[in-house]
Amino acid sequence: MVGGAGMIIHRVKITNSCVHRTREFKTRNEQQDFGAFAVSFTLNTGKMKGDSEMSTGKKVAIMFGSPRKNSNTRILVEEARKGLAYKGVTSEIFYLCEMSIKGCQACYSCKRNNVSECAVKDDMQKIYETIKETDGILVASPIYFGGVTAQTKTWLDRLFPLIDMNVNSRMARGKKAAFIFTQNQPVPELFANHIDVFKMMIGFIGFEVKGSLLACNLDKGYKPMVTENKEVMARAYELGKELLA
Ligand SMILES: Cc1cc2nc3c(=O)[nH]c(=O)nc-3n(C[C@H](O)[C@H](O)[C@H](O)COP(=O)(O)O)c2cc1C
Repeated sequence: MVGGAGMIIHRVKITNSCVHRTREFKTRNEQQDFGAFAVSFTLNTGKMKGDSEMSTGKKVAIMFGSPRKNSNTRILVEEARKGLAYKGVTSEIFYLCEMSIKGCQACYSCKRNNVSECAVKDDMQKIYETIKETDGILVASPIYFGGVTAQTKTWLDRLFPLIDMNVNSRMARGKKAAFIFTQNQPVPELFANHIDVFKMMIGFIGFEVKGSLLACNLDKGYKPMVTENKEVMARAYELGKELLA
């Protein structure tokens, strides 16, 4: 701790088998916020007993729709990534909330020209390229006001170029999808309609829906973190393992 208003007050050494670095936090809260993620980070990047040695060359793109990069949704995503890594699948995270992604402008350029290119040139271009090459996607979002976050819905609307006017997919066949949702309400059925429609739309776009996890009763700062729920953590790991199976 080095002290002073507005100055760095906590300096923490973060170490795992491959990374040694120092991270500085302005407040104790900020340090604690990072804590949950740091635990998962250490577990995920360190070699673990039972890790698969074999890389399959397969890839999964993670569409991360929570604005909080170090909260419950992220912890479950990291658990799923462990399952993916066990199967020799590499993964890359796209933080939708940090990307510049406009809503669909309904120009119908993709439909009039019968192409899978979007006329709007923003950060979605990188996502289109990735989706073309990837073997699967993992979409992760908290529930906000009964549905996925605005950023996740915006991303979904921008997948419009990937279907034609008859809702036939323009993507190569065989791509898989899985989902992680988190919510505060303890009753899983409460927003099931919305979640089911969201998953169905991903199916229309041409992904084979392989599985999904809805983790309830989560509200960081007010309720226990998801790491306390070993069953949900195990399900996230299995989801990753099974995504491309
Ligand atoms: C703006 C906002 C709206 C929310 N709306 C709901 C809701 O409708 N139903 C619910 O169960 N939880 C709701 N929540 C709680 C979050 O879905 C829940 O805490 C989730 O685990 C947050 O994910 P995170 O910890 O990865 O940020 C809302 C949270 C916020 C910030």
